[in-house]
Amino acid sequence: MELFPEYEFKPQNFNKFPLDWSKIFGNNNPIHVEIGFGNGEFASYYCKSNPEINYVGFELSITSMVKAQKKLKNNNIKNAKLILVDGKFGLKEFFNDESVEKVIMNFPIPWYKNSHSHRRLVLRDFFEILSVVLKKNGYFELLSDQEWYVVEAKENAEISGFFKIFPIEKNPKRSFLTRYEKKWIKFGRNIYRLKIQKISSGKIERLIGGEHEMPHAKGKIDIKKIDTINEKVFKDENKIFIVKGVFKNTNKDNEYLIKIISSDKDFVQHYFLVLYEKGSEWILKLDSESNPYRTPAVKWSVKKLMEVLS
Ligand SMILES: C[S@@+](CC[C@H](N)C(=O)[O-])C[C@H]1O[C@@H](n2cnc3c(N)ncnc32)[C@H](O)[C@@H]1O
Repeated sequence: MELFPEYEFKPQNFNKFPLDWSKIFGNNNPIHVEIGFGNGEFASYYCKSNPEINYVGFELSITSMVKAQKKLKNNNIKNAKLILVDGKFGLKEFFNDESVEKVIMNFPIPWYKNSHSHRRLVLRDFFEILSVVLKKNGYFELLSDQEWYVVEAKENAEISGFFKIFPIEKNPKRSFLTRYEKKWIKFGRNIYRLKIQKISSGKIERLIGGEHEMPHAKGKIDIKKIDTINEKVFKDENKIFIVKGVFKNTNKDNEYLIKIISSDKDFVQHYFLVLYEKGSEWILKLDSESNPYRTPAVKWSVKKLMEVLS
């Protein structure tokens, strides 16, 4: 899907986390992050009006990712990187402590239903992450048409104790309106803005900090056991993985692809492992076509499956 490689950035290709953004951008400009950039209208405007910053945007939608890249290209933007990943994961794993000047969230999905409330982005753990990666005096800005959502975010920020909280503004004057902002204003809705400023840091445990090797296991196995692993669920304290298919390579004897869905707390990834015979041993490793983040659940899936097949 890589349209314009200068914009779509793939941290999975790096083996040291958090990332060295001054190397990636080739300068030491301040980092500003947007979570949920949508089709990139705001990103494009923001980068153009602030050429002295480095913009990093997170998005989950592939369609939006494609549209945003085109928008940046059409506007000849030079200071932006877009990443297809959950914004909370990205904020936590890709940035060093005290390294981000500003985080922006324009019109996140509110997840109205109580049963979906765990999906809301501005829960307490988000403010813990924010307090670590934001520079001292750095800002977080949230815009939404849902007053209750902004109030909930404000309360969670207050409870964390790491921020100076400004009063929620109703229909703030803005020089640029995002796509959703225009839509909600057209529907006659009010817009609410929350601004908070970091005053102190909390503590977080990162999932993928440090240097990484490719997860990889080698040994003797009983290949008949391969028929027993499909649909099996493996669960540990903070991680879980499920085998979602075992496929024999019809062109090569003694080679299998194993589809895995893993989760580290709420961070879910889909990928393939490849199992093949080499000499008197079998090797199990990440398939070269899939590129998950090497989280504890991913590493464990390799180790645990090898153990089960032995
Ligand atoms: C309502 S749209 C707003 C888009 C844009 N910011 C605007 O104001 O026009 C919310 C966007 O957030 C993205 N999104 C939802 N959850 C996300 C997450 N956890 N990480 C990154 N992006 C996310 C969605 O794919 C969607 O594009």
